[in-house]
Amino acid sequence: MTLEARDLTVRFGGVAALAGVSFAVAPGTVTSLIGPNGAGKTTAFNVITGFQRPTQGTVHHDGQAITGWRPHRIAARGLVRTFQKTSLFPGLTVRENVLTGLHLRGRVGVTVALLARGRVRDEERRLGAEADRVMDFVGLGGRRGEAAAALSYGEQRLLELAVGLAAGPRLLLLDEPASGMTTSEKMAVAALIGRIRDEGITVFLVEHDMRLVMGISDRVLVLNYGRLIADGDPAAPRSVCRFALRYAFHSTVSRFRAARSSTAQAETFWRSTISRRCHHPPGHGFGNVVWGSYSGSARVLPRNWSG
Ligand SMILES: Nc1ncnc2c1ncn2[C@@H]1O[C@H](COP(=O)(O)OP(=O)(O)OP(=O)(O)O)[C@@H](O)[C@H]1O
Ligand SMILES: [Mg+2]
Repeated sequence: MTLEARDLTVRFGGVAALAGVSFAVAPGTVTSLIGPNGAGKTTAFNVITGFQRPTQGTVHHDGQAITGWRPHRIAARGLVRTFQKTSLFPGLTVRENVLTGLHLRGRVGVTVALLARGRVRDEERRLGAEADRVMDFVGLGGRRGEAAAALSYGEQRLLELAVGLAAGPRLLLLDEPASGMTTSEKMAVAALIGRIRDEGITVFLVEHDMRLVMGISDRVLVLNYGRLIADGDPAAPRSVCRFALRYAFHSTVSRFRAARSSTAQAETFWRSTISRRCHHPPGHGFGNVVWGSYSGSARVLPRNWSG
């Protein structure tokens, strides 16, 4: 296992954002962490990447305990994350933003920089070529000279991914990389994540879009109220598949309700998705999970929905 979290607990005053969570991320996989708002997903990422000390528990990377390490030291090991909220420099160009990621792995120290200008120029050339490669990889090659602020929202999210890639990850942690994107942008991100995995980079993904999650994940972990309630192969006939799709159903219904549309369409869509993807008949049961922040939505489920 490349990443192992054992018994992670994070308390904020009286709130346990994580309550004794253990999981592992296998190398070369796309592993997704899903769950409703406030489940503790970002907190888990914060602990793994050193932005939050756990109240209890440990994190190991390739057998090495990294619990409590500073973020830059963890990033230097190859655990690189993107943030749920944008973390770009809006006034810098696309290329300059990517270079900020690359500088995490620059090889020339200050002393060498002072003594050997030629070596610095070599290093700059190398970093520049690498920045170009990363921009092409995410499809922003044609926009390299533009200010980050001039990109569309979806393109800015892609640029954040590029900055993360530029840092040379072995494990890339993506916190809602597709949030706010259009459907076609989401499809592009899904394809991109697949290509990142094909390059040998392990991906740990937090994402609310269940179609994206179910389409690309090798493994899905489900968090609810700081506890891990399911863990498995999304194609398996039980557990994770049902939890994930029930969750997706709830959020789709919420969106339909917000748009004052009939929920029948959402219901039809998810019933067919469930029968197609979970390989069991629709209406066969969804377990007993009540999603905290969607507690209101339980009422919109038809009576026979869970059984
Ligand atoms: N710094 C903090 N101080 C106090 N409470 C916090 C802090 N960070 C997170 N929490 C609380 O911990 C819980 C988990 O939050 P977290 O951000 O990890 O959820 P999440 O699963 O990422 O949710 P979302 O899907 O909305 O991003 C929430 O109840 C949140 O209010
Ligand atoms: Mg979050």
